[in-house]
Amino acid sequence: MVRKKIVAGNWKMNKSYDEGIALVEQLVDELDMDKVGDTHIIIAPPSVLLQPVTELLMFSPGIAVAAQNCHHEESGAFTGEISAAMIKSVDADAVIVGHSERREYFKEDDALISKKMKAALDKELMVIYCCGESFEERKTANHIAVVEKQLRTALSDFSAKDADNIIVAYEPVWAIGTGEVATVAQAGEMHTHIRTVLSSIFGDAAQNMSILYGGSVKPDNAAELFAHPDIDGGLIGGASLKSADFMSIIYAMPK
Ligand code: PGA
Repeated sequence: MVRKKIVAGNWKMNKSYDEGIALVEQLVDELDMDKVGDTHIIIAPPSVLLQPVTELLMFSPGIAVAAQNCHHEESGAFTGEISAAMIKSVDADAVIVGHSERREYFKEDDALISKKMKAALDKELMVIYCCGESFEERKTANHIAVVEKQLRTALSDFSAKDADNIIVAYEPVWAIGTGEVATVAQAGEMHTHIRTVLSSIFGDAAQNMSILYGGSVKPDNAAELFAHPDIDGGLIGGASLKSADFMSIIYAMPK
């Protein structure tokens, strides 16, 4: 297996039903597959759009669909939540877990995130596991230790076989939605360290795991980031909401 190059768009809580459909239709119409090459594309719309978006992309095998979160139980009295089984039931392919907004606003920690991952992997969904340090943690030079602890707490219970279905997204909290992007040196240093930690957990399987960078990726900084050998793609927030910007980021992946 070769390591996949991936560009994922996380819409967060944006787009009405009609706006979301229009954005996906535009992508399907306008994406130049020659320029996309072997880059895998993932779209993570809000949950009410999962079903129509998977249906629209039925004949676009290069574009997968992810939920932005799931509950760790299969069903039950958890008002407002959706389960991995439900995500699977609309033929979505993946789920994002551990996004820093979930950690910060919904008080999720790595022990809980690990349970969500197990629920998702049990349902044969791919998992995009997000990690990343706060501004304070970087300022005090604790970023490497913080991210390593997140990874070890969330991932240590999984096997090398599970690793095939886990994508890691490094998203420094201070770069998300702020316009302040990590430098290639900062992101590259962390990605290389993440791969070392993944190797110590999963062995050789870590070489095939994709590690995405997220945090203010835009058309004008994507190429530089994606050129780093340990940056296998991006998790894109704001810039995934406009098809032209999202497409330029996809095309920025080295061929
Ligand atoms: P941003 O968000 O691209 O808007 O910074 C990235 C993310 O949170 O996934």
